[in-house]
Amino acid sequence: MDRLHITGGTPLHGRIHVSGAKNSALKLMVTCLLTDQPVELTNMPNLADTRFLAQLLETLGVEVYWPKGSSTCHLNAAELKSTIAPYEQVRKMRASFNVLGPLIARSGHATVSLPGGCAIGARPVDLHLKALEAMGADLRVEGGYVKAAAIHGLRGAHINFSTVSVGATEHAMLTATLAKGETILENAAREPEIEDLANCLNTMGANVTGAGTPIIRIKGVEALKGTTYPVMPDRIEAGTYAMAAASAGGDVTLDGCPVAALGAMISKLREAGVTIDADEAASTLRIRRNGSALKAVSLSTQPHPGFPTDLQAQFMALMCTADGTSIIRETIFENRFMHAPELSRLGADITVRGQEAVVKGVDHLTAAPVMATDLRASVSLVIAGLAAQGETVVNRIYHLDRGFERLEAKLGACGAKIERRSGEDE
Ligand code: UD1
Repeated sequence: MDRLHITGGTPLHGRIHVSGAKNSALKLMVTCLLTDQPVELTNMPNLADTRFLAQLLETLGVEVYWPKGSSTCHLNAAELKSTIAPYEQVRKMRASFNVLGPLIARSGHATVSLPGGCAIGARPVDLHLKALEAMGADLRVEGGYVKAAAIHGLRGAHINFSTVSVGATEHAMLTATLAKGETILENAAREPEIEDLANCLNTMGANVTGAGTPIIRIKGVEALKGTTYPVMPDRIEAGTYAMAAASAGGDVTLDGCPVAALGAMISKLREAGVTIDADEAASTLRIRRNGSALKAVSLSTQPHPGFPTDLQAQFMALMCTADGTSIIRETIFENRFMHAPELSRLGADITVRGQEAVVKGVDHLTAAPVMATDLRASVSLVIAGLAAQGETVVNRIYHLDRGFERLEAKLGACGAKIERRSGEDE
């Protein structure tokens, strides 16, 4: 199993190009199921998760042409050969559950395994199922599978989500594009990836308005056509490198950065004493910290435009060596502090009380072997390792490969001492 060896203490200097957004790409790929014409996605991130989904789409009969290393992925669902998404494939990645609604819209029926995904709490799919039922799908759950049919077709519905859910909003939006009549989604998630999906669907001939606000309206159309569409840049990857630079110190510029989508993170980093030059027009974010101490800053994760839960672990890593005490509240997921005990192995002083972590800044972190537990937690260990004294070994980095493209190369180009090695865990 691969692991990362990181020798901390070297400031980062250079430029990092931000890749296409994993969380957007995964939903954009699913759009191909809604049309018999080709969908071409550019700026695609080469990640374990996007490759998993490509495999699942192939199982359904989608022709996928996506050469290794290429950032353009061609998807053609001219004919589907199956409407069954098996457990072995869906369990690897939760976002694959989003094929359910589009398969019903396209074929009238589908059988899709209930998802697995990151070990960050229960993560139910009740909101997805309620939305599909409201649109006229008959659903039953049997043997870990959702069996669905819409004998009379799907119809528009008024859906008011009880909780803000990115996945359920996107799933309902995808499905509603081909439903008869208008669908109104209330209390919809406002994440930038939802706007990206709506924009892509509109290039395919869908009629989606209001994405990015809590009320989204989708007027169903007869059919969708193919498209060529660029995946938006990854705000979580960008935020992660911003925090790596803040943690290790130095001067790093992110190119192709979705600056407008990072408002909450930028203001927290500035509060912590990091110098940030944000240029929205040029899509660059320059992060500087030269020797100055970090200030402790508290935060609470929130749906967009609040501070993203996907950057919480990274921010905690940064706060480990800040001056003072920072209180970090996780409000989106239960059990999303698995990085805290691992950070403590590096000498951090963190006490977890329910949904709150109290981080008392220490003078410095000291290298140790640590274990990645989920995607974002694992990258927080990399951030901590870059600031720690000595050589930190991060085990189980297959979690990292799910969501970060060429992480070692990108950080290495800025001077980080980071190396991937194969072998037994340490
Ligand atoms: C997406 C992102 C993930 C991010 C999260 C929140 C992708 C592939 N993943 O995950 O990286 O951390 O948004 O920004 O885009 N919930 C229910 N019932 C449901 C669905 C969700 O109760 O049917 C709850 C969840 O348990 C959680 C909250 O709603 O507490 C938010 O989850 P949701 O926004 O749906 O996250 P995902 O779409 O799974």
